[in-house]
Amino acid sequence: MKKIQRLEMKAISKSFHGIHANQDINLFVESGEILGLLGENGAGKTTLMNILYGLYQPDSGQIKINDKTIRINNPIESINHGIGMVHQHFMLVQNHSVIENIALGYKDTPFFFPKIKIKDKVEQFSRQFDFHIDITKKIWQLSAGEQQRVEIIKALLNGADLLILDEPTSVLTPLEIKELIYILREMKAKGHMIIFISHKLDEIMDICDRVLVLQKGRIVGAADTKDTDKKSLARMMVGRDVVFNINREKLTKGKKTLSVENINVIGDKGLLAVKNISFELFKNEIFGIAGVSGNGQRELAEAITGIRPILSGKVKMNGQDITNKGPRHIYDNGVSHVPEERIRFGIAPGLFLYDNAILKQHHLKKFSQRYFLKYDQVKNHTKTIVKEFKVSTHSINNQIRNLSGGNIQKLILGREISEQPQLLVASHPTYGLDVGATEFLRKHLLEIRKQGSAVLLFSEDLEEIFELCDRIAVIFNGEIMAVLDSDDKRFSDIGLMMAGSIRIDPMEKQEC
Ligand SMILES: Nc1ncnc2c1ncn2[C@@H]1O[C@H](COP(=O)(O)OP(=O)(O)O)[C@@H](O)[C@H]1O
Ligand SMILES: [Mg+2]
Repeated sequence: MKKIQRLEMKAISKSFHGIHANQDINLFVESGEILGLLGENGAGKTTLMNILYGLYQPDSGQIKINDKTIRINNPIESINHGIGMVHQHFMLVQNHSVIENIALGYKDTPFFFPKIKIKDKVEQFSRQFDFHIDITKKIWQLSAGEQQRVEIIKALLNGADLLILDEPTSVLTPLEIKELIYILREMKAKGHMIIFISHKLDEIMDICDRVLVLQKGRIVGAADTKDTDKKSLARMMVGRDVVFNINREKLTKGKKTLSVENINVIGDKGLLAVKNISFELFKNEIFGIAGVSGNGQRELAEAITGIRPILSGKVKMNGQDITNKGPRHIYDNGVSHVPEERIRFGIAPGLFLYDNAILKQHHLKKFSQRYFLKYDQVKNHTKTIVKEFKVSTHSINNQIRNLSGGNIQKLILGREISEQPQLLVASHPTYGLDVGATEFLRKHLLEIRKQGSAVLLFSEDLEEIFELCDRIAVIFNGEIMAVLDSDDKRFSDIGLMMAGSIRIDPMEKQEC
């Protein structure tokens, strides 16, 4: 098959149950080019690329390779044309080794001694692109970044001239993102073409040569990245100016809601992950926990919400001891939780939207009577969440697994927040959300603060922390390095606190 020099999609349209996921889309890519597809959750990016990869058939429109119209009936045909795709959720067999997974997905896998024959090729790619990967390891032993590299190797081995990456950085750490960018630049230099899907403006500006902006299934803007900036891309994406800084109204804090007293918590590795942590939280207050992830944040949130045992110390809600009580008991005491891995732990994928909207509330009087759910109330409640949180779905009678990741997040957030909890424990609530949804969510947190909730916010995003929080604790290695008001001058050294090099005694007065 001839190498792809130029690929074109012309007037592509596709709808699902009357929703126009793609409408009259035109795009092209040429070899040696990185094209960005930018758009909010639900804009139609994944659908468009699934069409190119042969997973969906368009309702109308054409695909051309090197000026010749082709049909792509399934992924195998797409691969044979030189197209490779790395999905948002990886499609690897967890119990098999790297080399076995590659052999499974390789179009020319020989019947005899497949692993030995493929190994040389894989090692050659690894050297060429600096993949650093142990091919004998099992998939479950790999980090997200390593699994992604296996997917990229699979695509390259199948001769992909065009590589499509669907939100590739959403699962990566900052270091892994750097490594990925390096690999993509190498591929570009060697004449590959890449379509890079993202809703993160920084990345698009950093990696792409050109960018197309999608909104509600249509292309609403196009630009060379060298001729544009983040602000105008954001405006195209959302259809209006985006407020990057929200003004936080000063409020006097109300009565004490939560108190955490000298708690110690064991992590998954059997070591102390939370070491003697104490703090208090008041009504009308957002209290932020800043820190690099993996410093005890997850364990602390889980201990407070009853998912993980507390070794010693006490947690009290409105003066009531809730230490080591079950999650339902703690929920009934006014504590809601938006967990870190919400797609994995926050939903039941096979159930409908309206079931998922009341996963924790189904026992409440307003939703059930004896053993029966009051479906009218449940459905009305779900419709309100869908409307208020702008969840894009054709119906609430839809299995939640059909929704895009961003839309699943919005439903979970809606469920946890709509009840106006006394305390909301929110772990990275805007992680994976697009600009519009992020702005909406931040405003909503400030709104429940105003109405009297207390919010315990875990975030790695310092901009978010300073924008929302009244007081901030910095966590490092399971310990709190400082607790300060967000306007404290000493926060100029927050980077050093996050790295554990500076610790501020709570009694120390602020110098003026
Ligand atoms: N298999 C499907 N069934 C029903 N609706 C779908 C399906 N795939 C996508 N959609 C809908 O099409 C729209 C675009 O979704 P998607 O392409 O996933 O957006 P993006 O990748 O930009 O977040 C959304 O409204 C989504 O709910
Ligand atoms: Mg998508």
